[in-house]
Amino acid sequence: MDFSIKAFDTKNTLAAAKSGCIAVAVFENKKLSQAAKALDQGGEITAALKSGDISGKPGSTLLLRGLAGAEAARVLLVGLGSDETVSEKSFSSGVNATLKAFASIGAADAIIALPMTDVKERDAGWAVRSIVIAAHESVFRTDIQKSKKDPAPTGVKKITLAVPAASTDLKTALLQAEAIANGMDLTKELGNLSANVCTPSHLANTARKLAKQFRFDVEVLERKQLEALKMCSFLSVANGSDEPPKFIVLKHMGGKAKDAPVVLVGKGITFDTGGISLKPGAAMDEMKYDMCGAASVLGTFRAIGEMGLKLNVIGVIATCENMPSGRATKPGDIVTSMNGLTIEVLNTDAEGRLILCDALTYAERFNPAAVVDIATLTGACIVALGNHNSGLFTRSDAAHEQLAKELLDAGKQASDTAWRLPVEEAYNEQLKSNFADLANIGTPGGASVTAACFLENFTRKYTWAHLDIAGTAWKSGGAKGATGRPVPLLSTFLINRA
Ligand code: BES
Ligand code: MN
Ligand code: ZN
Repeated sequence: MDFSIKAFDTKNTLAAAKSGCIAVAVFENKKLSQAAKALDQGGEITAALKSGDISGKPGSTLLLRGLAGAEAARVLLVGLGSDETVSEKSFSSGVNATLKAFASIGAADAIIALPMTDVKERDAGWAVRSIVIAAHESVFRTDIQKSKKDPAPTGVKKITLAVPAASTDLKTALLQAEAIANGMDLTKELGNLSANVCTPSHLANTARKLAKQFRFDVEVLERKQLEALKMCSFLSVANGSDEPPKFIVLKHMGGKAKDAPVVLVGKGITFDTGGISLKPGAAMDEMKYDMCGAASVLGTFRAIGEMGLKLNVIGVIATCENMPSGRATKPGDIVTSMNGLTIEVLNTDAEGRLILCDALTYAERFNPAAVVDIATLTGACIVALGNHNSGLFTRSDAAHEQLAKELLDAGKQASDTAWRLPVEEAYNEQLKSNFADLANIGTPGGASVTAACFLENFTRKYTWAHLDIAGTAWKSGGAKGATGRPVPLLSTFLINRA
């Protein structure tokens, strides 16, 4: 899908635009949008609304051909709800319906002339991003590992976004939107790949490819180096598997050399069996998505690389499999983490925090401006927040309140929202062990919070936030698959910081 932005004003009118199709909005109150009026010289649009051929309800569409007042071959009427004050939700349904219609018409190019500047509480930049991301979603295929490929997308390939005035801001918004959408595609692709293909080595190779394409620095630490760094907590998870663990460090130094970097830390468990604390069999296949934190770091790097973002960003990914075997860590085993704290592994299925704690200690060396870890950390986060919001955890002093606000705002801006949950000393009580400094699971209650508080112990040297994406990184059920979240949130957070 190819996108451009073009201003349609008094000189350069929609009516004179030569295009396979122009999508314009109509409303339930029988009113026409400005763009629809501009094409209604012959009265066909008014007539279609009047006769009830289109209701104007969000997502309703009607394709008309050969309008007297339009050079374009077709005009697609798109319902955007009750009246001209368009809600975000109605706009998104309208965009999805437009893309669906575009996929099955005999035109290769089209113009979207929906009212991008009239969405309630949103700006045109948001509208541009939501169109581009929805368009990517509409042609995304999950057939990489199928021998017979799904039918290739047909219909419209080139989309022009019609705006009243083309500003450099909107052109930037379009470039950012495409970069974010490409990043999400990468994250989804990695998430969906089966775990026998998407191994720690595969993630490392993907990081190397990205580094080459976008001139990042990349370093992949192997088991021997991890041993030398005393990452025994991370290695205790990797022990049960024959796949070698990898520790990936990506650097995009787009800012000033001396500016402190933002560090993104991703959980990259390429398959989580639970280890000796084996998970039940039902839906265990979904544990191939347990590397979506890592994949979202790679996707965000793809996005900021394409944008050439002027900010120093470092990505750190700890990746391995969590498998049961004769060499696997056993419940009750005590390991010493990189920062010296000893951990009693009461449950080998609480492995994410065991790999992240060493990655978080490693992050200290960068003197970071902020560290954000991203992890499919707890099933309890799905219980708490469902699939709508990622869980956001930070301490609550001024610097952390500020970081939390930035991340929550970025999520709202990008329609990739997070919801804040507590990090408090009281929960650390639940992580006490009789035999080690910390247990890797808490006493019953607040399992997402105790998981975050476990991590908190390893982040005292910098400003830190934790995103639990267990509920947002993928969809279960019929349309099973990775979502590409929270690449929009993370990319927007970084854009706002640059
Ligand atoms: N990867 C899982 C968390 C998870 C579960 C994500 C379901 C998505 C869907 C994580 O490693 C895990 O197993 N967590 C345990 C922690 C428990 C043992 C304290 C969990 O949530 O059950
Ligand atoms: Mn687990
Ligand atoms: Zn896991």
